[in-house]
Amino acid sequence: MTTASLPPQDLAGRTALITGASRGIGLGIAAELLSRGANVTITARKADQLEVAGKQLVEGGSPAVDLGPRVLTVAGNAGSADSRAEAVARTVETFGSLDILVNNTGINPVFGALMDADLDGVRKIFDVNVVAALGFVQEAYKAWMGEHGGNVVNIASVAGIRSSGVISAYGASKAALIRLTEELAWQLGPSIRVNAVAPAVVKTKFAEALYAAGEEEAASGYPMKRLGEPEDVAKLVGFLVSDAASWITGDTIRVDGGSLATG
Ligand SMILES: NC(=O)c1ccc[n+]([C@@H]2O[C@H](COP(=O)([O-])OP(=O)(O)OC[C@H]3O[C@@H](n4cnc5c(N)ncnc54)[C@H](OP(=O)(O)O)[C@@H]3O)[C@@H](O)[C@H]2O)c1
Repeated sequence: MTTASLPPQDLAGRTALITGASRGIGLGIAAELLSRGANVTITARKADQLEVAGKQLVEGGSPAVDLGPRVLTVAGNAGSADSRAEAVARTVETFGSLDILVNNTGINPVFGALMDADLDGVRKIFDVNVVAALGFVQEAYKAWMGEHGGNVVNIASVAGIRSSGVISAYGASKAALIRLTEELAWQLGPSIRVNAVAPAVVKTKFAEALYAAGEEEAASGYPMKRLGEPEDVAKLVGFLVSDAASWITGDTIRVDGGSLATG
């Protein structure tokens, strides 16, 4: 990459914590924010895979930009209060601030009819997808954002906007996350902006089953006729946390190849 084609360093000097970022959308967001100058902390449960992701971020950077001291990995479960506190504390200790929080961790262990749903599984979905996201915001608020301001982006889903009939408990949790985004925007503005993004199917391990029968078939109902890539979501998150989005808060922006536009 030549210096002329480097991305803008508009996030230089800022620090971002991205949860659930050892692969998929979270890793894509980390790469995007890093390339725009931010320091990044990434979390995930499996420490070995998280380390590999951290190295990938450092090695994948442009030789013109020194990423070495700008990537921190903190292994832990987003559903654990201790892990959330550790990730936030180590981020502030290491980089001196926490300006951007991306609540990306999401799980979906319950499929099918709600009448058959295992309620412990449903509780777990809400705990990781909604309660843990609020827990991370609370920690970030206490440690940095309450005094200095900041930016939060929650990774929701089109399943939180329109019923799929299949991933219903997950969809209900993402609808709750969208509403939580609005409530937080009210309570934390003007110094902290809180937004969400709602992707349709993005090609990651999480969504593999949704396009196992063929990508073309899975994308046939999308006006853009292709499934999403992590970068599609990452670019939108990069915009939302930048000063270019300074009048946007409480919003949920779809990044879905137009899928919800089709009725
Ligand atoms: N892919 C899609 O089609 C799609 C569409 C709409 C919305 N989304 C949302 O986008 C987000 C990211 O999904 P993805 O597709 O990128 O998933 P993914 O490829 O499965 O990656 C999930 C990441 O989260 C980590 N993780 C999972 N559970 C965790 C936990 N309890 N605590 C901490 N880290 C955890 C995983 O690492 P470990 O396993 O090591 O913890 C991994 O790094 C999720 O919120 C998902 O709901 C995805």
